[in-house]
Amino acid sequence: MMLLVLVLLLSASSPALAWIPVQDWESGNVTTSVDSSGQCICHVFLPDTTFPADRVEHMQQVSKDLILEVEIQKNKMVKYKGKLVIYLEELKQLEARLAILESSPDDYIKLDFEMLRIELREFEMLVSQLKDSLNSSSPLFNSLYIEIHNMTLLVNQLETYDKSNLEVIRHQFAKLQMKLEECQKDQDIIKPDIGSCNHTGILSFSNPLVVQFNAHLSSGYVYGGWGKDSKPIRGYENLHFYGAYTSPGSVYDFYFYSNYENLLLRKNYKRITLPTDWVGVGNNYIVHSNSIYYQHNTPFSMTKFNLTSSTYDYRVISGASTSFSYAYSASQNLDFAADETGLWVMYASNGNKGKIVIAKINENSFGIENTWHTGVYKQSAGNAFMICGVMYASRTVDVNTEEIFYAYDTKTKQERNLSIQFKKFQNSYTNLDYNPSDQKLYMFNDGYYVTYNVKFNKE
Ligand SMILES: *[C@@H]1O[C@H](CO)[C@@H](O)[C@H](O)[C@H]1NC(C)=O
Ligand SMILES: *[C@@H]1O[C@H](CO)[C@@H](O)[C@H](O)[C@H]1NC(C)=O
Ligand SMILES: *[C@@H]1O[C@H](CO)[C@@H](O)[C@H](O)[C@H]1NC(C)=O
Ligand SMILES: *[C@@H]1O[C@H](CO)[C@@H](O)[C@H](O)[C@H]1NC(C)=O
Ligand SMILES: *[C@@H]1O[C@H](CO)[C@@H](O)[C@H](O)[C@H]1NC(C)=O
Ligand SMILES: *[C@@H]1O[C@H](CO)[C@@H](O)[C@H](O)[C@H]1NC(C)=O
Repeated sequence: MMLLVLVLLLSASSPALAWIPVQDWESGNVTTSVDSSGQCICHVFLPDTTFPADRVEHMQQVSKDLILEVEIQKNKMVKYKGKLVIYLEELKQLEARLAILESSPDDYIKLDFEMLRIELREFEMLVSQLKDSLNSSSPLFNSLYIEIHNMTLLVNQLETYDKSNLEVIRHQFAKLQMKLEECQKDQDIIKPDIGSCNHTGILSFSNPLVVQFNAHLSSGYVYGGWGKDSKPIRGYENLHFYGAYTSPGSVYDFYFYSNYENLLLRKNYKRITLPTDWVGVGNNYIVHSNSIYYQHNTPFSMTKFNLTSSTYDYRVISGASTSFSYAYSASQNLDFAADETGLWVMYASNGNKGKIVIAKINENSFGIENTWHTGVYKQSAGNAFMICGVMYASRTVDVNTEEIFYAYDTKTKQERNLSIQFKKFQNSYTNLDYNPSDQKLYMFNDGYYVTYNVKFNKE
């Protein structure tokens, strides 16, 4: 039984006040509590804020506060309908305020509309999940869904924002998201057992956690990947990475973040623009031991950029073919993966008739130690990843649903047909990887960062 309530209050008040600096907010006002019925409640009070005086005068007249209430609820609950009524009321208020703003186009509140739009979209998605998990025929849900959708359209029309306010608002949203996740962790029934392979495989996945929109803040950047170093070195324990581009099969740069919060804030400590000779292909790269492993095509090889030594290295894999990609995107010929047992690369070969070959990479020599021939056609899979020496391949079921349909165990050389379904936020994705350091699945889903908790079968 799990319920998440998340309250965000954003208010713009006295013109005499400037934006509260980030550090004040950081020390400030976020509380988490669990009420008598076991509900986890995150309250986030954002500081009173105003905009530069020359811009606020008219705004003050039309709208004194802007209240954004975001409430995310999961799982079945009794008090549900009562809450929704209040919720709807509050959304109506916000909508009314936006309508006032809309009618005075010269004096917009310089909000981060892009961000607001993303939040609304995620909200829309969560409500639709709730609709599914509770009672899809409930008229209350349908109207809530329409309200949110309407609001999204409205925000789209108010397409202007002031860069100077972006940082503060982003920071606030990032904090909020982190708090929500803390809440979720406390309540989550899936308890990770990091490093353990004492299970017989995947049992199920949590609902997707839509972490954020990509760092380019652009809906065109759908070909990419993100994640966390699966075997971090000292000093970079929480290294996160991201890379994306607007056309399939092109990899020009990577962004590195010292931790998860900085990824949310889009504050990279390092960005690598790949030199012409080392430009990458496909989107199935990973970071392992402070090195990024990716596909390179001249010559066609697996490539490693070592962030510690800032050096490139490559190995041609004999037998690997450029003729076979995964179903959602072109040029995904080499798929890197890391699990509890080490580093892997998966590819299709002509010798294996276009079916996936699993190869174990020796981390010291950067060579292939061993290979296994699976029975799954690469082009029939959306993506693949490794957990405890077992390869899992995914494929589409419908626009909202994906399934793990195949597993190959490198220890026993046994293959299995499966149907372990999980929900997607958007239809297609270019990167799906398991991370043994937190037992989560990371997906780059049409420009969004998404994660899943994995529940294992312990029999
Ligand atoms: C947090 O916000 C509440 C409500 O605005 C206020 O009563 C309380 O004093 C604040 N606490 C801190 C530590 O700022
Ligand atoms: C689902 O919603 C319908 C329509 O509101 C209602 O008649 C029905 O009792 C609900 N079912 C459950 C299990 O809540
Ligand atoms: C949503 O917008 C449409 C068109 O503007 C309008 O007809 C409808 O009443 C709105 N729905 C709600 C629930 O606000
Ligand atoms: C593995 O899991 C089983 C069942 O949960 C348990 O009985 C056993 O002690 C575990 N073994 C190890 C080595 O943790
Ligand atoms: C990266 O370079 C450092 C420094 O030369 C070295 O110690 C480390 O083993 C290298 N890591 C990998 C994964 O090659
Ligand atoms: C898995 O399904 C495929 C296609 O239906 C079938 O050809 C194959 O024999 C099955 N494999 C196993 C191990 O059941």
